[in-house]
Amino acid sequence: MNNSQILNQVRLFAQQKMQSDQTGHGFDHILRVVKNASYILEHENQPADPTITLAAAYLHDIADDKLVADPQQSEQQLQQFLTKIGFSAEQGEQILLITHNISFSKSLEKSLSLPFSGQIVQDADRLDAIGAIGIVRAVYYGGAHQETIYDPMIAPRREFSKAAYRDLTQETIINHFHEKLLKLAKMMNTATAKRLARHRQQFMLDFLAEFQAEWQGRK
Ligand code: ADP
Ligand code: NI
Repeated sequence: MNNSQILNQVRLFAQQKMQSDQTGHGFDHILRVVKNASYILEHENQPADPTITLAAAYLHDIADDKLVADPQQSEQQLQQFLTKIGFSAEQGEQILLITHNISFSKSLEKSLSLPFSGQIVQDADRLDAIGAIGIVRAVYYGGAHQETIYDPMIAPRREFSKAAYRDLTQETIINHFHEKLLKLAKMMNTATAKRLARHRQQFMLDFLAEFQAEWQGRK
């Protein structure tokens, strides 16, 4: 198989695994992340292996411990699948290293230095959490988890432990912007993603200002 045939197989595999997701990690998210990753690849001076980068983008949420009961088993399956379609063991490990380490909560736990291809996928994923799409995803997620829209009595959390992050009883959709989404623009690794994030950041700030004004009864 050539590289584009391999990526085709990866796309089909990801589609089949993500089809029924209700958490904002559906296949539409995956396709946007792949698009973002390929844009970043094209616009960065430093080279990264496009097949590894795009395969990792397609697969980055498959073994997420928020989504599957047994992430280790999912990773083993993934490794087997990657070798079956023609990646070497070393390439498979590179892809798994990326998919294993890019999520936000993990990047808070340890400051692991990702290879450049992984930094691209991380940026591509973070770009999809901000801007207009980011706003809709937060509302969608909050609705699915019975979160309140907003409560001025609940202050945004400063400490961002994984356990607190998962306790949604004290979470509001608006607080999620302050706790996570507004921080992402600064955390981008690549110059290309930093540039794209600037506009999306401003859009979220404008949205939050409008929200406050309407909440306070501006007519
Ligand atoms: P990832 O694993 O891709 O880093 P998450 O699983 O944390 O992302 O989140 C998936 C989507 O749901 C993102 O767009 C994120 O902003 C949103 N989201 C996550 N947690 C919350 C929350 N407590 N309230 C509102 N939206 C959330
Ligand atoms: Ni993702």
